[in-house]
Amino acid sequence: MADTLTVIDNRTGKKIELPIEHGAIRATELGKLGLVSYDPALLNTAACKSKVSYIDGDRGILRYRGYPIEELAEKSTFLETAYLIVKGELPTTSHFRMWQRNITMHTLVHENLKQFIQGFRYDAHPMGILIAAVGALSTFYPEAKNVMNLESRRVQTRRLIGKMPTIAAFAYRHSRGLPYAYPDNDLSYTGNFLSMMFRMTELKYKPDTILERALDVLFILHADHEQNCSTTTMRTIGSSLADPYASVAGAAAALGGPRHGSANEEVVHMLHEIGTIEHIPELIKQVKRGERRLMGFGHRVYKNFDPRAKIIKQIAHNVFEVTGKNPLIDIAVELERIALQDDYFVSRKLYPNVDFYSGIIYEAMGLPVAMFPVLFAIARTAGWMAQWAELVLDEEQKITRPKQLYLGYDERPYVPLDQRRDGGALETEVSGPL
Ligand code: ACO
Repeated sequence: MADTLTVIDNRTGKKIELPIEHGAIRATELGKLGLVSYDPALLNTAACKSKVSYIDGDRGILRYRGYPIEELAEKSTFLETAYLIVKGELPTTSHFRMWQRNITMHTLVHENLKQFIQGFRYDAHPMGILIAAVGALSTFYPEAKNVMNLESRRVQTRRLIGKMPTIAAFAYRHSRGLPYAYPDNDLSYTGNFLSMMFRMTELKYKPDTILERALDVLFILHADHEQNCSTTTMRTIGSSLADPYASVAGAAAALGGPRHGSANEEVVHMLHEIGTIEHIPELIKQVKRGERRLMGFGHRVYKNFDPRAKIIKQIAHNVFEVTGKNPLIDIAVELERIALQDDYFVSRKLYPNVDFYSGIIYEAMGLPVAMFPVLFAIARTAGWMAQWAELVLDEEQKITRPKQLYLGYDERPYVPLDQRRDGGALETEVSGPL
């Protein structure tokens, strides 16, 4: 049997045979019939070949470079997983030591970047600060525009993985009016991050080992997730050969949306709003009436349990042993139980996703809600950089430039201003703050 797909255009009788490779046909082949494929939100379009992460949404499987997420969460560390994601293989002991050292030596940021962050209003959202500060990094490292240069790509990758926690922590300290705490390179990646977040006047901050490990596992779980919205943004910006700081700033902007990396922020708001278990049925009714979404539920790819959600639920208990129980967990567990018995959610295959429990843990650890997407961005930087490197090396890739179906007006003549009647597009005068 031939690995082809036969397409007949019944308007013309023209027939073409499309080769099938890796379970895909090339949409450009449809051009032979004068057709384009229409796929809003790219629901059934593979825009790249990738070797970084693999998801089987029906079976609830996630692997980085072939390794199951469950094994990495149990046995690996974030920095080791980042190495795996970026370089394709797990490191040997000596290479891991060098990687650790090379990342650690990039944890400091230029003092001018610190001043740039200081310029934000006291109540600036830390995600906004992160996006702006990462974008600004490209002005500090103009050589990063040499995206085809291997050594340059390596340096920018280490810099970004090294500096993201520092920028994130500075953004947080800024919102609290606290002096910025500089990196402590004796600590682990997550230990140092906790130190930069929470160190007060003590000379040396000692992170709680359970919280340090919990955060490390959370970072592992968020490190990559194939062609999600922010990674697609990273690749789209990268396809113009923009430097990686500009691309990461764009990817982080995409991540900041409530349908993507800010969903855990929305989950915590929602759980606070529910307040007590008795109010859950009312929320479920609102969701079923289509008035709102059950945040932390549903996923474009997982039509089964998100494997990361299962791991996170376990971590929650370790964290609560240190911090005391976050009362939101009882509401979340009950909400999950009720939803998973309800035909609305079952028939649509809506299960808890990674964000359903992560916010509760972060909150228990004293990490404010506004920092949730920022934490996500720190971890996802490893994935973004791996996917970006894959993109720039992929000879099949070009600048991303999708087609459109134009449904607007045909050509029409310009009407002078004094001859126009009230049309559909109106503008009203507004008053108020600028
Ligand atoms: N609550 C209620 N109904 C939902 C939800 C939800 N959370 N998610 C999807 N649905 C319903 C939709 O209303 C739709 O129903 P319909 O067929 O009757 O119209 C159906 O399920 C399919 O929904 P889509 O919007 O087509 O699914 P899509 O794949 O586009 O959306 C998304 C995925 C954005 C994650 C969605 O499930 C959602 O908004 N979830 C809440 C936000 C969230 O938790 N996001 C985090 C995702 S994980 C991450 O980014 C790390």
